Amino acid sequence: MSVAADLARRIADAGAVSVLTGAGMSAESGIPTFRGTHDSLWSTFDPMALATETAWRTDRDLVWGWYRWRMALVAQAPPNAGHRALAALAQHVDVRIATQNVDDLHERAGSVVDAHVHGSLFALRCFECGRAHEAPLDAMEPQAAPLRAAPPFCAYCDGDVRPGVVWFGEALPEDAWQRAVATTHCAVMLVVGTSGLVQPAASLPLLARRHGAYVVELNPARSALSDAVDLHWPVTAAEGLPLLQAALTT
Ligand code: APR
Repeated sequence: MSVAADLARRIADAGAVSVLTGAGMSAESGIPTFRGTHDSLWSTFDPMALATETAWRTDRDLVWGWYRWRMALVAQAPPNAGHRALAALAQHVDVRIATQNVDDLHERAGSVVDAHVHGSLFALRCFECGRAHEAPLDAMEPQAAPLRAAPPFCAYCDGDVRPGVVWFGEALPEDAWQRAVATTHCAVMLVVGTSGLVQPAASLPLLARRHGAYVVELNPARSALSDAVDLHWPVTAAEGLPLLQAALTT
C-alpha cells in the first residue's frame, strides 16, 4: 500500500487530521523559506537585524521596509496545489491547521487555520499601544529587494505600526498557542515543510505522538523532526498533499 493510501485510510478511519505547516508549505508558491537553500531568507538577510524588537527600535524603516517587501511578495504568490489539497480535504474530514507561516495562503486556498503560532504579516498593530491597525496599506508592487520605508502611524496614539508577527525573543500569542496545542489531540498529524528548529512550535509533533497520534512528515529533505516522527515521506507539499487528497476522496 502506498504512503498516500495508508495515510488516507488512517485519516478516513479517524474522520480528522491535524496539520502543522512551515515555510516549505509555501515554497512552491514562490515564497522563500527561512533556511537551507542558497536563496533562503536567512541566507540573504540577518534575522537578528530584522526580526527582533531591538532591530525595530534601532532602525524601524529598515525593518518595516523588509516586511512590506515580504507582504508584497506574499500578496502576489498564489496558493499552491498543497494548500488547495488541504482545503479540499476539509470537505471530507475535519482538518485542523496550526501554521508557523505568517502568510495567508492557507486562507486564500479556502482553509480555516486554527492557529498562526508566529502571527501574521497582515495583522498590523501599533508598536506603542498595541491596538490593531485597520487602515489599508497603499498597494505595493513586488520589489526586487526591500527598500527602507517609514511605517504608518497609529490612528489612536500616533505610535508606529508594526507587523503582527512574532519576533525572535517574543512570546507566542497565548491564545494561538493554546489552539495549536489543542490540534495535537488527534489520531493523525501531518508535519509539512518545517525544519523543526524553532521552539515551541517544533514540540507540537512530539506532543501529538505523546497523545497517541500517527505523525508523518512531508518534506523533501530530512529535518530535526525526522527521527521523532513515525514516517518521513520525502515529498514536497504540492506533491504529497494532492496524492493524499486523491487517495482519500476517490
Ligand atoms: N515542500 C515541503 N517542504 C519543503 C519544501 C516543499 N516544497 N521546500 C522546502 N521544504 C522544507 C525544507 O526542507 C525545510 O525543512 O521546508 C523546511 C523549511 O524550513 P525553514 O526555512 O526553517 O522554515 P520553518 O521550519 O517554517 O521555520 C520556522 O523559523 O525563522 C523562523 O518564524 C520563522 O516560522 C519560522 C520558523
